[in-house]
Amino acid sequence: MRLALSNLKGGVGKTTSATYITAGLADEGVTLIDGDPQGSALRWAERADSPWLTVAMPNKTIHRQIDRFTDTRHIVIDTPPGDLGIVTSALRAADTLVIPVQPTTADMDQLAETLALVEDVQTMNDDLQVFILLSRVIKNTRSRTFSRDALTESGHTVLASEVPQSQSLALAHGQPISDLGAYSDVVAELKDLTK
Ligand SMILES: Nc1ncnc2c1ncn2[C@@H]1O[C@H](COP(=O)(O)OP(=O)(O)OP(=O)(O)O)[C@@H](O)[C@H]1O
Ligand SMILES: [Mg+2]
Repeated sequence: MRLALSNLKGGVGKTTSATYITAGLADEGVTLIDGDPQGSALRWAERADSPWLTVAMPNKTIHRQIDRFTDTRHIVIDTPPGDLGIVTSALRAADTLVIPVQPTTADMDQLAETLALVEDVQTMNDDLQVFILLSRVIKNTRSRTFSRDALTESGHTVLASEVPQSQSLALAHGQPISDLGAYSDVVAELKDLTK
């Protein structure tokens, strides 16, 4: 799997998801590419002494360089918010895109820009499968049900697994990952959908 985590909106859980999904794929072999100039996936890997290879590639050459990482079965690419050039390059490199989305009306509204970019990239990369991951979800809320229903009705594939808003994830940056928590189901579902 060549998996990009992208959403042009900031702070939705791209880096957290990229790092946890990488941890969940580690036993099969995975490289994490940090495409964000902020370098937060790389800093997390450094601080946590993560066992997988993490490579900083905060530029538009990701799709040209991706074939250098064929040593591992999986490649996960974390991408920055708001940088169309880098995100386009990451999506051209990927076969799978997960878009973390917080289930709020504001986040749903801003999703249009990311979806438009995805459509553009799909004209260059028709292998790209797109999944929406509801992230930072507060259980039993109207916003959760509303967002899932609205996205599904618009024809998007929303992963059945969701990531809850949680204290342990809020404090996870820089820590080694010993328990995948909700990301265990996310990884299993992605493996199943892409096999
Ligand atoms: N499920 C969660 N529950 C609680 N806090 C979370 C969760 N996921 C992420 N966070 C927190 O939200 C903030 C943003 O998360 P993260 O850095 O993963 O988002 P991002 O989309 O990569 O942000 P950016 O666009 O700035 O790169 C961080 O402080 C992180 O710890
Ligand atoms: Mg990030």
